[in-house]
Amino acid sequence: MPRKPIVAGNWKMYKTIPEAVALGNTLRSGASGILDREVVVAPPFTALAAVAKTLEGSGIALSGQNTCWENEGAYTGEISPIMLKDVGCRYVIIGHSERRHIFGERDETIARKIKAALDAGLQPIFCIGETLEERETGETLAVLRRQVKEGLKLIQGADMNKVVIAYEPVWAIGTGKTATNEQAQEAHSFIRTLLEELFEKNIASDLRILYGGSVKAGNVDGLMAQPDIDGVLVGGASLEADSFLRIIKFER
Ligand code: PGA
Repeated sequence: MPRKPIVAGNWKMYKTIPEAVALGNTLRSGASGILDREVVVAPPFTALAAVAKTLEGSGIALSGQNTCWENEGAYTGEISPIMLKDVGCRYVIIGHSERRHIFGERDETIARKIKAALDAGLQPIFCIGETLEERETGETLAVLRRQVKEGLKLIQGADMNKVVIAYEPVWAIGTGKTATNEQAQEAHSFIRTLLEELFEKNIASDLRILYGGSVKAGNVDGLMAQPDIDGVLVGGASLEADSFLRIIKFER
């Protein structure tokens, strides 16, 4: 079965509620009638409820940007997977490089978050990627192997069809430096082979692997032409309707 592409916008810590609703409305009309790809937006927590309402019935899916690994409890400042489900999320981004590198998230917590998200009926968008130093010292594939193995260690094969992986080289996020099509394809194909080793062939061939890191209107078509790139996770260029709509309408 061909893998349905995903174009996901990560709004990070941008947009007030009125700004988020305005962007949601423009995306809703601009992306109407698009059925051969999934469109996902991840607004900040404060705007989720309002954007959920704006996008109701549009086919554009909602995602959280992070989740706790517990469903409830004394965890001041956290948001749980059942809360994200409750507000209308289908997806949740887990292990984003900013969570790993600014907020110190480790493989261990990421594994628990992925498990909790799946248990709550959410689809995790599980982010992995090497730093510039790791790439320059030839450690890229070893880092990806560790992140995939550790992050998915609590997941049974049967749940893997709900998981989406996002390969986001840290040096390409927010820097304007995209991986070349070849660098991205090499990493994606490595990840798919690894999934085959850890799970099964059909799980590996059905799982969608997104590329993220300075994806723009001008480079999305080349990336999407690679055989193992099944979509994109977009930060900066998803904050503005025109550029995100152009990315949504990528041509292969
Ligand atoms: P960027 O961010 O597109 O601004 O590089 C990507 C991401 O962080 O997911």
